[in-house]
Amino acid sequence: MQWLKNVRVLGIESSCDETGVAIYDGDLGLMSHALYSQAHIHAEYGGVVPEIASRDHVRILLPLLDECLETADCSKSELDGVAYAAGPGLIGALLVGASVGRSIAASLGVPAVAVHHMEGHLLAPLLEADAPDFPFVALLVSGGHTMLVEVRSIGAYRVLGETRDDAAGEAFDKTAKLLGLGYPGGPVLANAARGGDPHKFKFPRPMTDRPGLEFSFSGLKTHTRKLWREHAQEENAQADIAAGFQQAVVDTLVIKCRRAMQQTRSGHLVIAGGVGANIHLRETLSRTGRKHGWGVSYPRIEFCTDNGAMIAFAGYHRLLAGQHEPEIIHARPRWPMNELSTMETAGES
Ligand code: KG4
Ligand code: ZN
Repeated sequence: MQWLKNVRVLGIESSCDETGVAIYDGDLGLMSHALYSQAHIHAEYGGVVPEIASRDHVRILLPLLDECLETADCSKSELDGVAYAAGPGLIGALLVGASVGRSIAASLGVPAVAVHHMEGHLLAPLLEADAPDFPFVALLVSGGHTMLVEVRSIGAYRVLGETRDDAAGEAFDKTAKLLGLGYPGGPVLANAARGGDPHKFKFPRPMTDRPGLEFSFSGLKTHTRKLWREHAQEENAQADIAAGFQQAVVDTLVIKCRRAMQQTRSGHLVIAGGVGANIHLRETLSRTGRKHGWGVSYPRIEFCTDNGAMIAFAGYHRLLAGQHEPEIIHARPRWPMNELSTMETAGES
């Protein structure tokens, strides 16, 4: 099938606890997007319960899809392709979006493409009016991943460094739980940190004392547990520890970004993934970029965390390059990013 630039793609995201649907059109751009977060349901358990997540995706996905089509004033028959997040993520949750996406494509007789969730995050800044040019370095910081990636073009990725243990978002979530701040941890911890002194307690900046672009955040969590045990009764300890923890994560990420920019001689840094919504991180990286002469881009806050728009956008580009799936339901809970094909070699996978 010959693909023209003005194709219209439906995107579906269901890899964790957010159901996202969006419609991206090559001519018109993002026509609509709808998001439903299950966070309030999982909050009771202090973290995502996979089976509850799958069931809630089943409940919400089709009504959300109808809402999205209505907002875009688009009928299903006007869709030229379907993109769904196929991994990495929770297998049951992924299978909901994958089955619905694949079935809609089959019923319409249009191609479907399985999108890598982290590629979706990585490309989300390109949805914005001030989209960066290639090449750039991307800092991907989500609940499941922390990595620095050199991006030469869509699909041409070189992972420069990853976390050896907890992801940055996971560290926020676990630390917030430890401090009794609730779920989801990132936003509540960032909020608590606003009332704290980041210098009151000493925190390490893990793996910054040796060369390389690897991360490790599990030690920070252990350090926080010890501080909390010793100082919980002190006035403002919760906010001070939250502020110190956030500062340590931000400093560590900034040091590694500076190294990656130096190593690749790149002029532009892109931040994406849920932790990219952290205002302190955004402000600090923008300042650092100005100081060192590199540009810094982020998606809007709502496109940092999981959403359907990034999947529709990534899928649009892969479909445009002629890539699509055979009639199977494709979901991969683990999917190394370096297995992604570049656009030049994209074909039926
Ligand atoms: O990208 P995302 O929505 O889902 C995954 O792909 O994992 O990222 C979710 C993560 C969670 O760990 C959440 O606590 C974190 O992003 N997060 C934040 C903030 N908002 C979300 N972390 C720090 N500060 C925030 N404002
Ligand atoms: Zn994500």
